[in-house]
Amino acid sequence: MNKNIVVIEGDGIGPEVTRQSLKVLNAVSDKFNHEFEYRYCLMGADAIDKTGNPLPDETIEACLNSDAILFGAIGHPKYDNDPSAKVRPEQGLLKLRRSLQLFANIRPVSTYPSLHHLSPLKNKNLEDVDFIIFRELTGGIYFGKKELSEDGEQATDECIYTKAEIERVAHLAFQTALKPGRRKKLTLVDKANVLETSRLWRKTVQQVSKQYSGVKVDFMFVDNAAMQIIQNPRQFDVILTENMFGDIISDEASVLSGSLGMLPSASVGTGTTLFEPIHGSYPQAAGKDIANPLGSILSAAMMLEYLGMPKEANVVREAVNWTLENSFVTKDLDPVNFYFTSTIGELITDYVNGKIPASVKKENIELRKSTII
Ligand code: IPM
Ligand code: MN
Repeated sequence: MNKNIVVIEGDGIGPEVTRQSLKVLNAVSDKFNHEFEYRYCLMGADAIDKTGNPLPDETIEACLNSDAILFGAIGHPKYDNDPSAKVRPEQGLLKLRRSLQLFANIRPVSTYPSLHHLSPLKNKNLEDVDFIIFRELTGGIYFGKKELSEDGEQATDECIYTKAEIERVAHLAFQTALKPGRRKKLTLVDKANVLETSRLWRKTVQQVSKQYSGVKVDFMFVDNAAMQIIQNPRQFDVILTENMFGDIISDEASVLSGSLGMLPSASVGTGTTLFEPIHGSYPQAAGKDIANPLGSILSAAMMLEYLGMPKEANVVREAVNWTLENSFVTKDLDPVNFYFTSTIGELITDYVNGKIPASVKKENIELRKSTII
């Protein structure tokens, strides 16, 4: 297959993790005879530095004309520490989500037995955890009217949802709950005891659920969900929620996998789909070759699947599993015996290329490893 992929490396660790994904994608295209053409575009702090604009029109144009977008990370501390900054990197990503109508952000959460011992949670709570968060991505408080009074004493962020916005993401979540391998359960996470928008979510989801009689629906307040994700994560199959709650609970859920650096995501809408790890730009690690590239590489695997290459996606996932089972992990997972970002990228690339048979164990491989950085 021939595919045009827009690559937005973005800020902080974005470039170095995205480069590992590109190595892996190149191995996939060699092995399976595909042509991937990459077009590099700017967004975020990087784009502000180079053009003054967090999302140049050229980037939007290229994204609209591509088959998929692979994105790294966004954000820079110089803006985080300056609340009065007029232009912010994150505006780029929010505008791109809006311009491409990427209304559903899909974040699968799973755990790996080989990482259980590294988790702060009890092992028994981590077994068989496998759920998907559907986060609404183009509405709610993120996109409502924002105001600061003239005297600077009062601020407003409006939260608006329409029934149509809720319905479209709800349909995707229900359809996913019915897919083979899923457990046909959907949990709506909201705050319907307090918020009017949440009551509209509940009512709308109840109505939509009538078209999916095979799916068991339950409703959970977000504060309770935050606790249940840690206490009994196995109960969840598909979680559906609004923009801000989804942002917060997905970072929380990443702790189950072992690290925020592990979780991939797909943002889907009416046109081109965007793939990105859920982690941020992690500026403290930028350029040190220590960031976890798996969130990005697993996002690339999701991309392959969405582009109609499930076999290829599975080989990438198998390669990721092989590294984890053999304790080839980055510093976030093992602060003592860790491997570099680029080393993990190379191992996964070699595995995809068939240079490492699955039977090879860690003892047979000697690699650049660090215990001090
Ligand atoms: C995410 C990020 C973004 C969000 C930021 C960078 C705007 O945290 O993708 O989860 O809040 O949506
Ligand atoms: Mn987030």
